[in-house]
Amino acid sequence: MSPVGVPVRGYQPGDLAAVYDICVRTGDNGEDATGKFEDVRLLADIYAGPYLYLEPDLSFVLDDGDKPVGYVIGTADTAAFVRLYRQEWLPRLAHTYPGPPVAPTTPDEWLLATLYQPERMLRPELSAYPAHLHIDVLPAYQGAGHGRRLVQTFAGAAAQAGAGGIHVAVSPTNTRAQGFYQRVGFEPVDVADGGGAVYFGLTTDGRPPIRGGTL
Ligand SMILES: CC(C)(COP(=O)(O)OP(=O)(O)OC[C@H]1O[C@@H](n2cnc3c(N)ncnc32)[C@H](O)[C@@H]1OP(=O)(O)O)[C@@H](O)C(=O)NCCC(=O)NCCS
Repeated sequence: MSPVGVPVRGYQPGDLAAVYDICVRTGDNGEDATGKFEDVRLLADIYAGPYLYLEPDLSFVLDDGDKPVGYVIGTADTAAFVRLYRQEWLPRLAHTYPGPPVAPTTPDEWLLATLYQPERMLRPELSAYPAHLHIDVLPAYQGAGHGRRLVQTFAGAAAQAGAGGIHVAVSPTNTRAQGFYQRVGFEPVDVADGGGAVYFGLTTDGRPPIRGGTL
């Protein structure tokens, strides 16, 4: 199906289950994470839920006419998002998961540690890119231009919300996503202590970044 045949639209609460499903089915370095964790919902409670809950106006889905088959979600202000995540998102999960593990060893424990450490999103080198996003498209819809349109939609909304730049954190082994980001305009950003990720940045006006900010 051509890109125009699969519209991008704003997120609606009824999309939540589909977005969680897409997050899991693309959550292992771009591949299906089903079976990788004992409680795979935790993955979506880290990388999808807080955005849908705290930033619904910056959440967009690719809709094949039946249900969402891709999404882009994020925030225009990572520092403010981290504060809200701690104040409003984590308390909602208090009865669902145990607290942060003291010394994580299993894949689920590492995810739990990630859940409880939103400050991992704050890196001084990313100050010129205060927004960040997560994008995932189901395999059957990849490679057809939908990812580019989703990034463009998010960039427009983030710019309207006042963000001069957007960053993404990518697994070093997800070389496909790294190629995609650079193809749609992102540039590598050096982050000294990247917490196991590599970073890319995109200015929302297409100009080189202006340094200085609050991250
Ligand atoms: C990464 C992802 C979002 C890209 O979306 P997509 O719809 O497949 O990408 P598009 O078809 O819009 O590609 C846009 C452009 O990037 C190019 N591109 C895509 N992958 C590329 C790669 N690995 N290397 C170089 N260019 C690439 C395309 O050729 C296209 O170029 P063009 O517009 O000049 O023709 C999608 O593949 C995906 O969801 N993957 C699994 C989940 C994932 O890894 N998410 C990112 C986690 S950080």
